[in-house]
Amino acid sequence: MCPAPKVSAVRGFRDVLPDESHVWRRVEQCAEEIFTDYGFAPVSLPVLERVDLFARSLGDTSDVVEKEMFAFEDRDGTTVALRPEATASTVRAYLEGGPGAQAGRARYWYAGPMFRRERPQRGRYRQFQQIGAEIFGEAGPMADAELVLMLADYLAAIGVRDTRLLLGTVGDGRCRPAYRDVLRAYAAARREALCANCRQRLERNPLRLLDCKEEACRAEMAGAPLLSDHLCGECAEHFVAVRRLLDGEGVAYEFTPRLVRGLDYYSRTAFEVLASGLGAQNAVGGGGRYDGLVEALGGPSVPALGFALGVDRLAMVLEAPEGVSSEGTAVLPLNEAAAGPALSLATRLRRGGHRVLLEPPGRSVKAMLRAADRQGARLAVLLGDDELAGGTLTIRDLRQRRDHPGVLPVDVTATRFAEWMRAQNEGGA
Ligand code: HAM
Repeated sequence: MCPAPKVSAVRGFRDVLPDESHVWRRVEQCAEEIFTDYGFAPVSLPVLERVDLFARSLGDTSDVVEKEMFAFEDRDGTTVALRPEATASTVRAYLEGGPGAQAGRARYWYAGPMFRRERPQRGRYRQFQQIGAEIFGEAGPMADAELVLMLADYLAAIGVRDTRLLLGTVGDGRCRPAYRDVLRAYAAARREALCANCRQRLERNPLRLLDCKEEACRAEMAGAPLLSDHLCGECAEHFVAVRRLLDGEGVAYEFTPRLVRGLDYYSRTAFEVLASGLGAQNAVGGGGRYDGLVEALGGPSVPALGFALGVDRLAMVLEAPEGVSSEGTAVLPLNEAAAGPALSLATRLRRGGHRVLLEPPGRSVKAMLRAADRQGARLAVLLGDDELAGGTLTIRDLRQRRDHPGVLPVDVTATRFAEWMRAQNEGGA
């Protein structure tokens, strides 16, 4: 008979297997601890939304909306999309069920999968995991500084080293349009030297001209006027205040006047965190203010700001923790007859809070001990004919490579087992 064909994962979608999964769990737990200390509450939002939500938030001319959404028409005719990011959804949730309708304050954080139909490469996937935090109803620069501080605290706590925090401002609805015209005029004079993409950007979204990866375009745009020189008085003041607060707290950042974010909803403060060792996809997080978005989505005028971190990329720069079952106990039934008593013992110990690895019977003692060792077990409990006949267990300390035969009965309780382990530890184990 022919073997059945294998079904592979869809391009750009991947499995997160235990070694990496443990890192994901750890970074999410750490986010929960730190974000809670900063007054954020968890939210869990749908992965499917009406496509309009994103088209109206991220910008019609953003790459995400133009070409990267997994959008389709549902059977009832509604056009829906897998969320490419969660800020727009958080605003919707804030308005629909949260205090948004009354323009109330809120701090939300979330973790979950996002979907973008980008070209897959190292660190860039079509489904990826984000951890994000959003603040609603705080207009002053202190909130910007607090958010960046939380991000810095978080990165330090999970142990990401060699990061660069790029900080800039993208102005607001008052100063940006005028700057856009200045930039368009500058680029129009160099039109012929720009790539086809940039010629389109020139018409549709000139700010993105500063974000082109083509060497020729970068060279042409290197001397372009800076938005930081065209800010309105209020935006300039806000940014100075944010920087002063961050400087006061000793947060290291690089002022980056050309910082361009790929999503259009930003206003004023914008930032990005880059990590070394990731190659081309080196942004582990980004965010900023988006004071106009709540209103653009039909709500009252509510200032807001936030950030999101890419968990896949964080996991690439963080080390996998030690084997999970370290300090655990392996129960090894040496033959089929020992399977029942071994299962009872494992269950008793587990119900008593022990971490137990139960090996299937029927392999050699050597193979079982090797498996227990590989999984990080500290002790192996052997149950074979001799043990069943004598009614006592053989316990092997896998680190000290020492056997303790006959010290505990086969029907040992979890408490007695724990006492014995403690005594071993105190005895200098
Ligand atoms: P973003 O910069 O588009 O911002 O994404 C944030 C992070 O998600 C990136 O820095 C990166 O680490 C990760 N990421 C993005 N695309 C991919 C991908 N294809 N594969 C792997 N990781 C990826 C946002 O999404 C905004 N919602 C952030 C925000 C929240 N702004 C205000 N509030």
